[in-house]
Amino acid sequence: MSRPSLLNFNKISDERGNLTYIQFPDHIPFKIKRVYWIYDVPSGQTRGGHAFKTQKEVIICLSGSVEVYVSDGKIEESYTLNRPFTALYVPIMTWRQLRNFSTNSVVMILNSDYYKEEDYIHEYSMFSTYE
Ligand code: TYD
Repeated sequence: MSRPSLLNFNKISDERGNLTYIQFPDHIPFKIKRVYWIYDVPSGQTRGGHAFKTQKEVIICLSGSVEVYVSDGKIEESYTLNRPFTALYVPIMTWRQLRNFSTNSVVMILNSDYYKEEDYIHEYSMFSTYE
């Protein structure tokens, strides 16, 4: 998958509530090496604002809602995530920024690799001209 795309996971519902699961390679296009989550974001704050050279991500809003802006330098898109069984796949070399966090939102991010500062591109101008 070379474009950002929405993933819909199974939701198992019964009288005890709902359950959603993901496992590689059935539901996610990479092996997960890292998971982090973002929460208690003050109103008006943004997160992200970077691209990865080699890392892929899946962003899931487990509670509340968030807007994810993505750009490959040419095509800009914005996705609203507000269901815990829907996620956004973000391929490599995609500028992404998380905006408009609702109160008490919790956003979980699955990543294909370990944390490596050298894999980040922090400047949009560098990103859009990166070869
Ligand atoms: P940062 O990249 O600024 O978060 P965001 O992408 O949401 O804007 O990360 C904040 C701090 O956390 C920064 O010092 C790096 C550190 N960090 C880790 O140590 N490991 C991780 O997996 C992540 C995502 C961040």
